[in-house]
Amino acid sequence: MSGRPTVVVTRRLPARVEDRLRTLFDARLNTADTPLDEAALAGAMRDADALLPTVTDRITAGLLSAPGRRVRIVSNFGVGFNNIDVSAAQTHGVVVTNTPDVLTDDTADLTITLLLMVARRTGEGERLVRAGHWTGWRPTQMLGTRVTGKTLGLIGFGRIGRAVAARARGGFGMRVLWHDPFASESDGAALGAERRDTIEEVLADSDFVSLHCPATPDTHHLMNATRLAAMRPEAFLINTSRGDVVEEGALVRALDDKAIAGAALDVYEREPSVSRALLTMENVVLLPHLGSATEETRVAMGNRAVDNLAAFFGGGTPRDRVA
Ligand code: DGY
Repeated sequence: MSGRPTVVVTRRLPARVEDRLRTLFDARLNTADTPLDEAALAGAMRDADALLPTVTDRITAGLLSAPGRRVRIVSNFGVGFNNIDVSAAQTHGVVVTNTPDVLTDDTADLTITLLLMVARRTGEGERLVRAGHWTGWRPTQMLGTRVTGKTLGLIGFGRIGRAVAARARGGFGMRVLWHDPFASESDGAALGAERRDTIEEVLADSDFVSLHCPATPDTHHLMNATRLAAMRPEAFLINTSRGDVVEEGALVRALDDKAIAGAALDVYEREPSVSRALLTMENVVLLPHLGSATEETRVAMGNRAVDNLAAFFGGGTPRDRVA
């Protein structure tokens, strides 16, 4: 390769990150910030040395195996990389990286935000005030559910799950249960969190269930009708992981049937579309995939993606290589 590597960036990134990309590479920035369609992505794979996509760009086997592909590294802006066909990347010798660690705290903070919102009916309360329908304080108005001292069940106990556990234990004196086939007993012991051997055991004993597993074929629809029915009728489901970990249709039915008390979601099965029924339910909190959305974290994620590209083109191994 002669000259600076060409990097196609699929969406607008914080200015500081774009400046860095311009300095280090022949960066093709997306100043219009409109998503790249399949043809534009295929063009990028042909014309660039690297792609810097986000979690909403689908980097398929077709794109990775296309004849004439020039891209050698896909540096994902996001810790989740279920948008990329990693096994096709491996087969075709394309390096894939992600941006772990830097978004752990903000995503954990947002999980707690959702938990509090759904328990204390804050979305509903805000809608009431904004609509001009608040008639004044009264002892039985909009009673919610206490959070302090309750039991939180975590499905997935990686970095983000553990950060949620720390907040729930330290901030709200919650009992924390967790299940994760890839974590060890000692991961929880330090936080005073209790491991359970099965998801069902967590569901049966939790007032709040929060999902923190990656999207894989094994976790697709992990929260299906049967698992939702295994939750307690007074329990709430919180999802800041990936939308398809929950079978959205089954969730709507569980809420309709009052099989659970409510849900607080940051991610959806078919983003940006949200099941119409959920939009009408007062006991459901809906956020637009904001888990890592702080200035600090988005800059850090961008820098991490740039670091991975710089390491690769510098002849080293990128720190966050996942394929
Ligand atoms: C990620 O990084 O995977 C998030 O979903 C984006 O905030």
